[in-house]
This record gives sequence, structure tokens and C-alpha cells, in this order.
Amino acid sequence: MFKKLQAKISHITTNSAIGTDARLQQICDLLKAKIPHYDWVGFYFVNGDKKELKLGPYAGEATDHTIISFGKGICGQVAVSNKNFVVPDVQAQDNYIACSITVKSEIVVPLFVNGKNIGQIDIDSNTPDPFSSEDERFLEFVNTQVAHMLC
Ligand code: SME
Repeated sequence: MFKKLQAKISHITTNSAIGTDARLQQICDLLKAKIPHYDWVGFYFVNGDKKELKLGPYAGEATDHTIISFGKGICGQVAVSNKNFVVPDVQAQDNYIACSITVKSEIVVPLFVNGKNIGQIDIDSNTPDPFSSEDERFLEFVNTQVAHMLC
């Protein structure tokens, strides 16, 4: 599943006929549609020189959490740690921002451009503990392609 999607992701990110936000939107829509345990897929980006993240393109239910301070929630922690954060059970996390009561698990993978953490891809799942190292490697691939697109 991930191998096939990698080719599609590369195709989207290199499509200069549309803008970068439209390409990010296509990635979110593709991942949500094709990966059964991805129920919400979105990109957050560092908001200018503020110590906060701002929601970019996403697929899934609208969220109130369009701005997240560094350090807050899973996303805010990844903005500071620069490391992948896999959460098998969101209820076991103290520093977690709930977007929907149906969400059971989450994965956040930072997005680096020229070595700088400029944002992240965030996936929510309604399935408990669905994420493996394959998800991590796949989402790292997605972010590398996005980084090339943004350079
Ligand atoms: N759960 C995230 C907030 C973003 S929503 O999942 C869309 C967090 O704890 O940072």
C-alpha cells in the first residue's frame, strides 16, 4: 500500500501546474482516502517568527485547533523535540489536545527544510494502536517530498 502511494505522492509534489497549498491538499485527501487507519490528515506549519503552529491544508473534520503553541499537545511537543511522536492511545497522554472524541491514536512527523523544523504532518486515527515503523518511514518520505517542493 505505502509503495504504491509513494509514486503518487512524488507525482503530486512535482506538479508545478498547481500551487503548493493545492498540492498539500491533494496529499491529505489521498492519504485519508487510501489508508484505512488515517481518519484525519493535516499539515501544521510554524507561524512566522511566533512560537506556534498554524493549521495548513487538511482532510477530515474541521478542528478548532488551528493555532497550537509550541510545547502544547502532541503537535506542540514535536515542534520542540524535532522527533516523530507515535501515540498508540491518546487517552494515556497528559499533554494532548483532543480534536474529536472518536480519535484513539495519533502520529506526528516533523517536516524539515534545510535542517530546520518548519512544520509537521499530523494523522489522527479512530483505531487504537494502528501505527508501525512503516507509517513512520512512509510519512518521513512524504515530508521529504514536501520539503523539496517548498525549497
Ligand atoms: N491532537 C493534536 C491536536 C491537533 S488535532 O489532532 C487535529 C495534539 O495533541 O497536538
